[in-house]
Amino acid sequence: MSTLLHIASSPRGDKSESLRIADTFVDVYRETHPDDEVVTWNLWDGTLPEFGPAAAGAKMTFIAGEPLEAEEAAAWDAVQATVQRFLAADRLLFSVPMWNAGVPYILKQFIDVISQPGTIWGLDPHTGYEPLLAGTGRKAAVIYTSGVWGPALGPAFGINHQSTFFNDWLHWTGITDITEIRHHPTLTGDATQSREAALSDARSTAKTF
Ligand SMILES: Cc1cc2nc3c(=O)[nH]c(=O)nc-3n(C[C@H](O)[C@H](O)[C@H](O)COP(=O)(O)O)c2cc1C
Repeated sequence: MSTLLHIASSPRGDKSESLRIADTFVDVYRETHPDDEVVTWNLWDGTLPEFGPAAAGAKMTFIAGEPLEAEEAAAWDAVQATVQRFLAADRLLFSVPMWNAGVPYILKQFIDVISQPGTIWGLDPHTGYEPLLAGTGRKAAVIYTSGVWGPALGPAFGINHQSTFFNDWLHWTGITDITEIRHHPTLTGDATQSREAALSDARSTAKTF
């Protein structure tokens, strides 16, 4: 039995393109994987801890192998609980709108909270980073949406730091089985056709995910 975790990063509710595509994915996944657990986590729901002075301090104290004092210890406990929430799933669905050429800041916050030594990454001073989720059987589907940028457009419409950044982060953790579902209608394209193609991709990916 697998657990599918949908990590959503659009705050736009019913108006969201990425959430609509993700909902279709989840519906088909439920139909075709009736024994699996499905969990949705919209990162805007207030449960993602912040990663400010106490957490950043705790991370560096931890890496230095020193004891964590009260405030840092509490922040580190919240971080580790969030890491475990992520690790509890072996099937990952991310819905990711483009924001200012990159990803919504809440998704970067999520990355900063969960990318921790000993669980997500190791580091060898001579050979570099060790992706600790490699070989764990995890796979990811990522829904990328944008409104202006499109893969066929030139840099006047922005440069894609959305999927390049996010796919690189997944690879860095060791998750390399990645399926992309894209909806980039652009300002002059056919939005309905683009959406229908993305919904179709979502259905077919979910069936065998
Ligand atoms: C804060 C914000 C920033 C955005 N920045 C970009 C951008 O840089 N490039 C782009 O093509 N679209 C941009 N958009 C448009 C969204 O990427 C697009 O509408 C997408 O479908 C939104 O996903 P959602 O409907 O799931 O929220 C932006 C939208 C918002 C709300």
